[in-house]
Amino acid sequence: MDLFHARLMPYLESLVPPRHPVLEEMEARARATGFPIVGPAVGQLFYVLTRLAGARRVFEMGSGYGYSTAWFALAVRENGGGVVHHVVWDPQLSRDAQQYLGRMGLVSVVRFHVAEAVEYLASLHEAFDVVFNDIEKPAYPDALPVIKSHLRSGGLLLADNVLWYGRVLDRGARDAATEAIRQFTRAVFTDPDFAATVVPLRDGVLVAYRR
Ligand SMILES: C[S@@+](CC[C@H](N)C(=O)[O-])C[C@H]1O[C@@H](n2cnc3c(N)ncnc32)[C@H](O)[C@@H]1O
Repeated sequence: MDLFHARLMPYLESLVPPRHPVLEEMEARARATGFPIVGPAVGQLFYVLTRLAGARRVFEMGSGYGYSTAWFALAVRENGGGVVHHVVWDPQLSRDAQQYLGRMGLVSVVRFHVAEAVEYLASLHEAFDVVFNDIEKPAYPDALPVIKSHLRSGGLLLADNVLWYGRVLDRGARDAATEAIRQFTRAVFTDPDFAATVVPLRDGVLVAYRR
């Protein structure tokens, strides 16, 4: 389902200032291969939110080849430095991310892990300023308690694809991914420990403040 006017996203993306050439190379790779990166408008949203939050500790779940990671890392570095965890289960994507982020001079603020993201987060005993969830969609609901327990009070939960290309609006859509996204979104919105909203950029970004 087409949620937006065909010219809206290209217009919003055209407003984002020119990026580092390596970020633009990563965007070209996504266009050429169909790899699902968040794209420049959502990347810029993450950068703005991370700067506003003054975040120094970011945990990213489902990092691909490091495109969204780069936007968080740019913001964390400008916030005075810290750590962005890049977590993906594919070793080649992790190596690609190390190469791209190395060329952007960002590896000093990024830690790379080849792992299943929820299990890896569950194994840590620390709380983050920002957790970004972009893993396989059927796994969203079970990830929520783990995310919540690793988000500091005052921290920010971000999740991509919460509009799922309009499928969440289609009452007839009962597949596992669509149902999981609905369940995850409802769970965040009805949890009194979160104040949540959906930013309808690209495929919908859930933004929730952890009280
Ligand atoms: C949507 S893509 C990531 C895009 C990335 N966040 C960006 O915008 O640049 C999700 C990636 O995470 C991987 N992935 C999905 N579920 C995962 C999980 N539970 N643990 C680790 N990696 C996962 C996928 O194989 C894919 O490479």
